[in-house]
Amino acid sequence: MIDQFKKTIVCLLADKTYLTEDEIDKCIEIPPDPKMGDYAFPCFSLSKTLKNSPNKIASELADRLKPTSPVSEIKAIGPYLNFFLDKTTFSEVVLKKISNEGNLYGSDTIGEGKTVVIDYSSPNIAKHLAVHHLRSALIGNALYNIYRNLGYKCVGINHLGDWGTQFGQLIVAYKKWGEKNLEDYTITDLNKLYVRFHQEAEKDIYLEDEAREWFKKLERGDTEAIELWKRFKDISLLEFQRVYKMLGIHFDAVVGESFYNTMVEDTVSRIREKGLACISDQALIIDLERYNMPPCLLRKKDDTTLYATRDIAAAEYRKSAYNFDKMIYVVGSEQKLHFKQVFKVLELMEYDWAGQCVHVDFGLMKFKDGKMSTRKGVVILLEDLLIEAVERIKKIIEEKNPSLKDKELVARDVGIGAVVFADLSTKRNKDVIFDWDTVLNFEGETGPYVQYTHARLCSILRKYGKDVMADIDYTLLNEDDTINLVKNLWQYPFVLLKSAQYYEPSLMSNYLIDVCANVNKFYNSHRVLSENDDLTKARILLVDAARQIIKNGLRILGMHAPAEM
Ligand code: ARG
Repeated sequence: MIDQFKKTIVCLLADKTYLTEDEIDKCIEIPPDPKMGDYAFPCFSLSKTLKNSPNKIASELADRLKPTSPVSEIKAIGPYLNFFLDKTTFSEVVLKKISNEGNLYGSDTIGEGKTVVIDYSSPNIAKHLAVHHLRSALIGNALYNIYRNLGYKCVGINHLGDWGTQFGQLIVAYKKWGEKNLEDYTITDLNKLYVRFHQEAEKDIYLEDEAREWFKKLERGDTEAIELWKRFKDISLLEFQRVYKMLGIHFDAVVGESFYNTMVEDTVSRIREKGLACISDQALIIDLERYNMPPCLLRKKDDTTLYATRDIAAAEYRKSAYNFDKMIYVVGSEQKLHFKQVFKVLELMEYDWAGQCVHVDFGLMKFKDGKMSTRKGVVILLEDLLIEAVERIKKIIEEKNPSLKDKELVARDVGIGAVVFADLSTKRNKDVIFDWDTVLNFEGETGPYVQYTHARLCSILRKYGKDVMADIDYTLLNEDDTINLVKNLWQYPFVLLKSAQYYEPSLMSNYLIDVCANVNKFYNSHRVLSENDDLTKARILLVDAARQIIKNGLRILGMHAPAEM
């Protein structure tokens, strides 16, 4: 969506300067203080070529430009040329658009005909989903929603870590020490086997060899090995699916690394044909020294393949299967080098689409509360964390609003939403510091706060009880804090675009916090429901628009917006 107000200003300026519309568009800013206007054009860049001071240029332009609707005034303030919009026209355009488009407000068509593949969550099987898997799942899911709303076709892939020597170890451990029938196994049992394997391997140096043998068997398709491995995978998926369901996370394809097992040979051949591979220490590698990177390992000396090999094969496969325009890997920062290597290899293989691959990295999740920190051997399980969040919210609801209907459902939406929001409101490359008191606070910059603001707006609308109309007297929405809220709502589509551009859902979460602050300011200084019918109608329309924007934004983040809390 283009900002039609900005567009008018760009056209006005393009007519009177030598700059192109594109150049002007990039320069236009929104002044931090609304008293300085609605949009501003800084004249610094013109100053060099025109050999004049920016202040002078600004005041000359102010004289030469004639305001045309919806621009009501053009004023030079220092080196800036500031534009003021006609408030009535502005709020009419904005509120009518939101009211017409409703749930679709902010959607765009810029992505039409284009495909984005997003690789997210992608945990290793036979291990519990721990909190660090949360970030990838949530950021990936939000990016999926963001891109889909912009018209892109999205393909969400869960690239399960279901291949590698560790499954040889697990098979050995199960065959030696497995007790129960595999049918009754849980991930916890599998974890115990892992631990046992590593303990015993310290005493018995041959165990590792045995495990490698079993993984080789697995790679060759040995029936017994495959049978056991499949079972390990099913056990894991059962737990994963429970958690994904709680989080409302969806994938279009759950395709693990094992899927590429039959393709890696061809991939390796292509790499060799291009003369990119060499043998070093009996292993097959791609030397990347020229690019200041350690070598990319393709095959170990025992002939088994590696994580990177499978990622290269997967990239080739996904290009042919989905013909993507962009492929996003949502994986922690600790894998930066891995993706740099993989992308470099794709480039060296002369794939023109290598540049379409992006690593969207993120920081860790840490616990402020000592009790929840990962003491040695104790990982915080994602499932436990989510259950605890819901339990804690349930208690709060029980205290504050015991007669609320659908308490269970609301507690789930708010409890899980709180965890989601805490994660997504942190800039992704920063570590998330998780602290229960902050995360669940209804008054901080939190999920419960945003959801609560939304529920409050819904409650005003319930009290009003009539249909919301867009044919109102727009001159009644002229007060400063009212217009500020309208302006804020207008930004939603552009925030969505920016979140996609920077792969940064936190832009959306922080925008929602701003909207809530403006809603609360508006709400605290104006009575929405009053004796004055026209004024009530006008303010109700604004309340409804704010409700709609918060709801749309929460949905993008993968959260629910309960109507009552
Ligand atoms: N399974 C890996 C891990 O847990 C993450 C995989 C990310 N995706 C990828 N295509 N490499 O570290």
